[in-house]
Amino acid sequence: TTKKHANGLDYVEVSSALCQARIFLQGAQIDYFQPVGKPPLLWVSSADDYQPGNGIRGGVPVCWPWFGVSSEPNFPQHGFARTRIWSLESVEMRDQLVHLRFSLKISEQDKIYWPHNTQVSVLFTLGETLSISLINTNLGDKTVTLTQALHSYFPIEDIHQLKASGFNGSKYIEFAEGPYPQTTDEVHFDRETDRVYTDLGPVQRLHTPQGIIKVSRENSRSAVLWNPWIDKSQRLGRFNPEDYLTMVCLEAANVLEDKLVLAPGESHSLVTHICWQD
Ligand code: BG6
Repeated sequence: TTKKHANGLDYVEVSSALCQARIFLQGAQIDYFQPVGKPPLLWVSSADDYQPGNGIRGGVPVCWPWFGVSSEPNFPQHGFARTRIWSLESVEMRDQLVHLRFSLKISEQDKIYWPHNTQVSVLFTLGETLSISLINTNLGDKTVTLTQALHSYFPIEDIHQLKASGFNGSKYIEFAEGPYPQTTDEVHFDRETDRVYTDLGPVQRLHTPQGIIKVSRENSRSAVLWNPWIDKSQRLGRFNPEDYLTMVCLEAANVLEDKLVLAPGESHSLVTHICWQD
């Protein structure tokens, strides 16, 4: 059964022997996940008031069926799926893991954005690890191309102390200030960072004062690493000016050369796994 947030958004709450979680039907967006006995694994801005129609500034917004700014004028950034109401199709408990499946029916109005006959769903598997799968199936008779991301916001306590590892030797495009060389395995943050890694290995780690957050991906060669830093923080909606100090986004993606190209009948599942490393 769903519950209603004070501002009207419906959500599902999960409380199991292994974790606690909260997922909103708008955007199929998880905003809270905490394994039992460990700190929460997702960050949300205290400036967000959960208004219907806005994506929540934190948790894991689903960016679909395009990531970033569309080449079409007036198309919303990061697609439209994050502000639409998804349906909760099923909830199952197996081996202490809770599985929730959401699907999005494309409305007549949204067909201006997405006229294709595809099926899109998000599957959450909740245990000590949070696993999220974004599953696309092409039900039409033409090839479909799209970009997408699981835009995960992580609590990192202090951006100045954060090391992000697992990026060794990977190519990236720095959208914040043009390409600059990065030669070490670890990434540190001292400026706006808005990178798309185009051929990244499957596991990265965020080394925070509270512990190491392990983030891994399946069926994805691309990932986004983002911190808005001081100036951009002032311009972001539902974001406090000092929020950049305590968050970072590391997003499992299929973008740029790693975009999805689905032949008729083909399916693809973009997966991210998020946990505290023991
Ligand atoms: C990131 C992008 O993934 O999302 C940034 O790389 C963007 O450029 C950020 O600013 C937040 O986007 P939005 O639409 O949620 O404010």
